[in-house]
Amino acid sequence: MATLRLGDVAPDFTAQSSQGEINFHEFLGDSWGILFSHPADYTPVCTTELGTVAKYKDEFEKRNTKVIALSVDGVESHKGWINDINETQNTSVNFPIIADEDRKIAQLYDMIHPNADATLTVRSVYVIAPDKTIKLMITYPASTGRNFDELLRVIDSLQLTAYHKVATPANWKHGEEVVISPAISSEDAKNIFIKGFKEVKPYLRLTPQPNID
Ligand code: BEZ
Repeated sequence: MATLRLGDVAPDFTAQSSQGEINFHEFLGDSWGILFSHPADYTPVCTTELGTVAKYKDEFEKRNTKVIALSVDGVESHKGWINDINETQNTSVNFPIIADEDRKIAQLYDMIHPNADATLTVRSVYVIAPDKTIKLMITYPASTGRNFDELLRVIDSLQLTAYHKVATPANWKHGEEVVISPAISSEDAKNIFIKGFKEVKPYLRLTPQPNID
């Protein structure tokens, strides 16, 4: 298994899921995507995570982002667990959960970290762009539930910086000032950033977020 890195094409696969057989790249289509793994079905932290993701449906849709979860249990187990998630988290799971019983996909995406746990997946997150390249990888331990507000924030940054010559500073949130890419000269920046910019240092130039009024 080759190590996956940012910019690599996300490996394609076909697998059974709680919503039937899925081909990953076909499922993603022209959307952005999030593939995220769970240590096991019927576990407490995962239950809250999947409930949270279901409640963020509108936020993911706004960002043209499809989500797909993975757990190393089977389809019937997933279906029973989804009933529990819907009941306890007061929601309706509206995305597929891949059944990766033979751990093929977990291995393809390096989701099993043997020194943490020999058989269960860690909490991996992959954000994938419409061209199917990997834009973000984050790994959390089983004991720490993920922060899905942070994932939305990162997707906002990825989508902004994909189309504008900017980068987003520490703790940036949608609507806040961004920094101009170092590759742009201040002379060129005057023409590109029509809202103007502040030059704090020649390498640190702040401008209003370009894609909003
Ligand atoms: C959980 O999802 O709650 C969990 C799973 C594996 C280990 C620890 C916690």
